[in-house]
Amino acid sequence: MMFSKGLEGVVAAHTAISHVDGNKGKLLYRGYDAGELARTKSFEEVAYLLLNGELPSNQQLETFTFELVKKRKLLSALDNVITSLPKELEIMDVLRTCISCLNPQTNWPPTKEEAIHLIALFPTIIAAWIRYENGEKPIKPDQTLGHVENYLYMINGEIPTNAHSSALTAYLILTMEHGMNASTFAARVVSSTESDLPSAICGALGAMKGPLHGGAPTGVLQLLDDVTSHAEGPEKLLRQKLERGEKLMGFGHRVYKTTDPRASALRDVLSSSGGEDHTLSKAVEVEKTATLLLAEYKPGRALHVNVEYYAATVMDALSFKSEWFTPTFCVSRVVGWCAHVLEQAEDNRIFRPDQEYIGVRER
Ligand code: ACO
Repeated sequence: MMFSKGLEGVVAAHTAISHVDGNKGKLLYRGYDAGELARTKSFEEVAYLLLNGELPSNQQLETFTFELVKKRKLLSALDNVITSLPKELEIMDVLRTCISCLNPQTNWPPTKEEAIHLIALFPTIIAAWIRYENGEKPIKPDQTLGHVENYLYMINGEIPTNAHSSALTAYLILTMEHGMNASTFAARVVSSTESDLPSAICGALGAMKGPLHGGAPTGVLQLLDDVTSHAEGPEKLLRQKLERGEKLMGFGHRVYKTTDPRASALRDVLSSSGGEDHTLSKAVEVEKTATLLLAEYKPGRALHVNVEYYAATVMDALSFKSEWFTPTFCVSRVVGWCAHVLEQAEDNRIFRPDQEYIGVRER
């Protein structure tokens, strides 16, 4: 038997949901290029694709959108839970607590209907908590708005601009699914015991909360602030950081050995949306300098920009607080989790890896 720390290189499942090619810098959802989907499709269309395997017809999209809209409402039980929680909780804890309070419709196998309910509820729970924490009344979902616009509306109480909703849509589409990452694996492990869907999603939320996984792009904003306000210019400060052995936030990736395709797609969407965005132009300039310096200081390591880097500029444009970054990531990734749990149920076998005993033999 072989031991692989962190299960690196171990194939844990067959999947037809997404394909990540780290060498070529490609991410495919059900065979479609994720960057192309982010440029041309809505949140609802891509969520449908991941859950069902095909892009929807107009009729299918209408039905799916209607189902999502119908299930957005905050259940009164959840409203009671939210208002009884201590305000110092992190949003990820609130989200996990609310999902664990849901009464599973079926225990096994999970259904698409339940998946749609969870996807619909995530933005409502997050927005309700943000308002409650701020001493404001939650805003009821607007049935006429799309999934992403409604999320922004429930947070701010205003219909978002096109530029804001399309930037967030692109980010959410690009982060909806990413192979066998820790939270997706956690969801599949829980589900493989024939446990219910909310339990599997609670497992995934627990995994996503850790800084090694759902790490927010806060560090990137800090880096951009530091380098551009440095008296001697960005290059000097970047060199100082690398000479001190510091990591540049938003660069490097375990899987991608070239530019993370989600980062370039997000940069293109943001650049083509028009208007003056200072953080974006700052980010593009710093990316160029940092990539050259990383090649100089870390030769052979293939360090390029990752999705967190441009996610930071989206969050900045939306004036999102850093505590909202990881839960917002979950608004999209819950789709990938549900798709994987449904796939796991199609041909389930309980996960039960082995261990290698290294303790005292016999006393
Ligand atoms: N800046 C400078 N050097 C780096 C960076 C970086 N951002 N990333 C990796 N390196 C260097 C390491 O110092 C190491 O150098 P060494 O061999 O001389 O010691 C080498 O490259 C390999 O780095 P590891 O940390 O071993 O690579 P690993 O694959 O384990 O880590 C990770 C990947 C965690 C993303 C890493 O690149 C990193 O910490 N980046 C900065 C944080 C970041 O941007 N995180 C978001 C990732 S994207 C996402 O999670 C959706």
